Amino acid sequence: MLTIISGTNRTGSNTRKVTQNALDIAKALGVETDLIDLADLSSDFIHNQQYNGDNLPDWLKALQEKSLIPAHHFLIVSPEYNGSIPGYLKLFIDAISVYRLKECFAGKRAALVGVATGRAGNLRGLDHLSSIMHHIGCNVIPGSLPISKVTSLINKEGKLDQGTSDAIKVLIEKLVKA
Ligand SMILES: Cc1cc2nc3c(=O)[nH]c(=O)nc-3n(C[C@H](O)[C@H](O)[C@H](O)COP(=O)(O)O)c2cc1C
Repeated sequence: MLTIISGTNRTGSNTRKVTQNALDIAKALGVETDLIDLADLSSDFIHNQQYNGDNLPDWLKALQEKSLIPAHHFLIVSPEYNGSIPGYLKLFIDAISVYRLKECFAGKRAALVGVATGRAGNLRGLDHLSSIMHHIGCNVIPGSLPISKVTSLINKEGKLDQGTSDAIKVLIEKLVKA
């Protein structure tokens, strides 16, 4: 199973639109997929006692059991916020890291996509995220995809241009073979 993570809680984000395109591409390739959209999650896991697995909300443990532990591959789509990944994405990773972390990520593969209205396509943030994923034992495959000037690449219906869609398709094909 491939779990695709939309890496911001910002309502109406372009990251979520890119994620939807990636989901559609993966499904068209016949890949079994699941989605974690950080914008759909309660933020009740963020508090000063969150760093103890006993204090994790039941819904978050259930999400890990449904969408992370059974996954073999991850595609993480992360916007660029102040030259890196959103703090919310890192807080989410920190929260889930205190419960069955190895079963969630160790020895598995991830591919990364960056989303920005600026020129960099979150390249630096993808490097930061690669380091974090490696730290928790998840291997990031080469070829992280920066999407720059995203608003010029998405139409009113939320569909990405052909070139970007093709690049996502190639990345997913590479990921599920890894
Ligand atoms: C808090 C915040 C910081 C941002 N910092 C950057 C940045 O450093 N570089 C950049 O190109 N875009 C930046 N942006 C704009 C995002 O690239 C833009 O919103 C893009 O659509 C991806 O974010 P989204 O998924 O939230 O829409 C920032 C947006 C927010 C909300």
